[in-house]
Amino acid sequence: MNILWDADSGALERYRFALGADTQRMESAALVARALHENTQVEQVVIGPDVTLEQACELAEAARLDRPELGVILMRTRVDVNALSLALRSGVREVVGADDHTALADALRRSRDLTSRLIGHASGGAAREGRVVTVFSAKGGVGKTTTSTNTATHLAHSGFRTLLVDLDLSFGDVAISLQLVPTQSVFDAVGMSGHLDEEGLKSLVVTHADSGLDVLCAPNDPGDADRIPVPTVSEILKVARRYYDFVVVDTPPSFTEHVLAAVDLSDSLVLIATLDIPAVKNLRVAIDTLDMIGSPKDARIIVLNRADAKVGLRAEDVETAIKTPIAVNVPNSLTVPASVNRGVPIVLDEPKSAVATALKDLVDNHIRIGRDTEVNGQVSEAAAASRKSLFRGRK
Ligand SMILES: Nc1ncnc2c1ncn2[C@@H]1O[C@H](COP(=O)(O)OP(=O)(O)OP(=O)(O)O)[C@@H](O)[C@H]1O
Ligand SMILES: [Mg+2]
Repeated sequence: MNILWDADSGALERYRFALGADTQRMESAALVARALHENTQVEQVVIGPDVTLEQACELAEAARLDRPELGVILMRTRVDVNALSLALRSGVREVVGADDHTALADALRRSRDLTSRLIGHASGGAAREGRVVTVFSAKGGVGKTTTSTNTATHLAHSGFRTLLVDLDLSFGDVAISLQLVPTQSVFDAVGMSGHLDEEGLKSLVVTHADSGLDVLCAPNDPGDADRIPVPTVSEILKVARRYYDFVVVDTPPSFTEHVLAAVDLSDSLVLIATLDIPAVKNLRVAIDTLDMIGSPKDARIIVLNRADAKVGLRAEDVETAIKTPIAVNVPNSLTVPASVNRGVPIVLDEPKSAVATALKDLVDNHIRIGRDTEVNGQVSEAAAASRKSLFRGRK
């Protein structure tokens, strides 16, 4: 979580784009100090342009000793050399111009990265693995790619190191949805099988500039899908979760071997339902299959897409049929295809729309549960349990 130290009540809204949703505004040094004392989950403090340099330096100096993993970022209306050197000497990590929201977002990303590394070292250097989140539905066209691209974008935009893997290996459309022009794909990992490392993986991803999301795209040639061995997919995800906070996986509309490998390594499974009988039937079958192979129920997050469509079937009917509660309802809206056609995820394009709000709720209140505690080196029991393979027997 971030703190914005700024007396201006409109500041949070103004910097929201750069700061992400998980930010609280505090008005005074005393409130910031109290929050830091009481809440170990605070990772970054962004200091607004009207806070005096002396007060800002005081906070940075105290934090440097008491809490070295805390990132302190200072915004200034004018950045002069004197202020810059004083601030950096006191322990401020970066000084950015108050109007430069992109610089602020970049600074936060770098600072969060450093914080994660410091926490890793503080906990004895134990590897802190990210969470794998697979978005699945056994029926086509229900909103898997919409959900995976938007959740991954929102995670990245909130400051988490996030990788989106397009496992719809024959017909993947993640790249086109995000207007990316990949030169490499999942297929290029095949040559690195058995010795894929962080650097190799990084060489295959393309970064979505607006959010910082890394994307590993599906091959251009649909025929390449069959030439990707299943263990390569497992290796990609295992390497990726060592480096990223979240690895989101988009899938084709069937339980292919590649999908099963992803599900096997997933901490959360986002299952998409829609209000039509074939989709509900397919979801029921998918859930039965998951039950049969012993996948934990609490790793599943059911999303009802186009939840308000007036088609004679109600959300309650879906819940009854699948015997599982719906976690998030995403409304039907023309803003979705419009944002896809613009190539900008709706969480960035229309962040206040009902669809974006629902998708951000999915991330903030369902997918991220457990991750925040882990980021602070306190792996909760629930998080540890959900970390285990969904298919324990198949590992
Ligand atoms: N909530 C929504 N409101 C309106 N349109 C939507 C909504 N969600 C998805 N769509 C539209 O439905 C179509 C299918 O969505 P999407 O590509 O996300 O589905 P998918 O499950 O990934 O499909 P496939 O199985 O073909 O990969 C797209 O045109 C998308 O814009
Ligand atoms: Mg798709």
